[in-house]
Amino acid sequence: MKISVFGCGYLGAVHAASMVHLGHEVVGIDVVPEQVESLSAGRSPFFEPGLDELLAEGLATGRLSFTTDAAVAADATVHFICVGTPQRHGEFAADLTYVRSAIDAVVPHLGPGDVVVGKSTVPVGTAERLRETVQEAVPEAELLWNPEFLREGFAVEDTLRPDRFVYGLADTGQAHAAAARLDEVYAAALAGGTPKIETDLATAQLVKVAANSFLATKISFINAMAELCEATGADVKGLADAIGHDARIGRRFLNAGLGFGGGCLPKDIRAFMARAGELGVDQALTFLREVDSINMRRRVRVVDMAREVCGGSIVGRRIAVLGAAFKPDSDDVRDSPALSVAAQMQLQGAYVVVTDPKAIDNAAKKWPDLSFTDTVEDAVSGAEAVLLATEWPEYVGIDPTWLKGRVREARIIDGRNCLDPAVWRAAGWTYRALGRP
Ligand code: UGA
Repeated sequence: MKISVFGCGYLGAVHAASMVHLGHEVVGIDVVPEQVESLSAGRSPFFEPGLDELLAEGLATGRLSFTTDAAVAADATVHFICVGTPQRHGEFAADLTYVRSAIDAVVPHLGPGDVVVGKSTVPVGTAERLRETVQEAVPEAELLWNPEFLREGFAVEDTLRPDRFVYGLADTGQAHAAAARLDEVYAAALAGGTPKIETDLATAQLVKVAANSFLATKISFINAMAELCEATGADVKGLADAIGHDARIGRRFLNAGLGFGGGCLPKDIRAFMARAGELGVDQALTFLREVDSINMRRRVRVVDMAREVCGGSIVGRRIAVLGAAFKPDSDDVRDSPALSVAAQMQLQGAYVVVTDPKAIDNAAKKWPDLSFTDTVEDAVSGAEAVLLATEWPEYVGIDPTWLKGRVREARIIDGRNCLDPAVWRAAGWTYRALGRP
């Protein structure tokens, strides 16, 4: 099928390349010329495992291209909207500017029978309005909502083999026909047994934010338990393992530590609260306010812990931070807990040196006042405390004896509960972690 993809960020670039892998012909459209240039040359503008290979494969087939010119969408019949919906400055609500401009860009090029497929995360009620815009221009064109659940770091895998498809559609013959076209796009995964839930537009939009809210709640729940563990001398890791064996609870997303960050969970729960307020049901989501606060408190707690291990003050202390990305296998530093703690410690008088395998460039753009280095060895040299803030495998696997030979004081804060305290203590380290004795 001939497909256009509006927005070539994490979601759109991966989606475009993945759709070519599935046999379709795809043009990715983005307003940022550098992004288009880079993708056209087969270079992903961000780090995502497997994406460069997928881009190379797609470009070699001649069925994948990128452009800033929305007019080329006229050749396609299925148009995916994959632009971002960041948090508005100074508000909780989502900024829909990019979604609206993507719809405005595609509408002049729609023909009868074309399908516009929204994948961006939007406040419930948005898709209905966008559908009206589409149909005012071309009554025989249809808009579906098909939220995306990909995780950064696993984006390619999640796009090619999602755990479910959700189609939101109006209950009309035309919309059902459009859903059948979307089935053709996803034919391979559907034939492989990926479940599909067809629902109305409102439910489809809610599914996405409900899923992210649930995940955020799960993380904040275990981090709240970590606070209890800290007050009682209990161990949150053992607690998570034990409750996680209950299949109704499950062990995944119960890792206590620095909490959640990134371009999705924090802004999605806030936009959801803002939307609930507009709908007059804000009470239904007041618990998300607490989820957000628990999450932010973890960052403050780590700064306090750094002060404690440094003997009461971090002023003038050299502190190494391992990790800048919001999670491993990503160079994304949007609302990164690692960077937020690094910056706080620096603001409070410490001399902070940050390292990360992939995210240094992005981190340095965001926090130019921090010091950055490419290697762990440089970062920890002369350090009086080390904070493991992002659980990259290379940090999790560090040999404590090797590291001890490079720091000034062997004090480690395990911000992600990913090290073995017994091993580190046996190697002579003062080991501290969130929610662990
Ligand atoms: C999240 C969702 O997991 C995806 O399903 C969704 O599609 C995506 O947002 C989106 O809305 O686009 P992502 O932001 O890539 O994906 O990251 P997650 O893997 O969810 O991790 C989010 C944060 O939670 C990270 O900072 C991670 O370190 C933290 N986390 C995760 C914990 O603190 N504890 C855990 O147990 C798990």
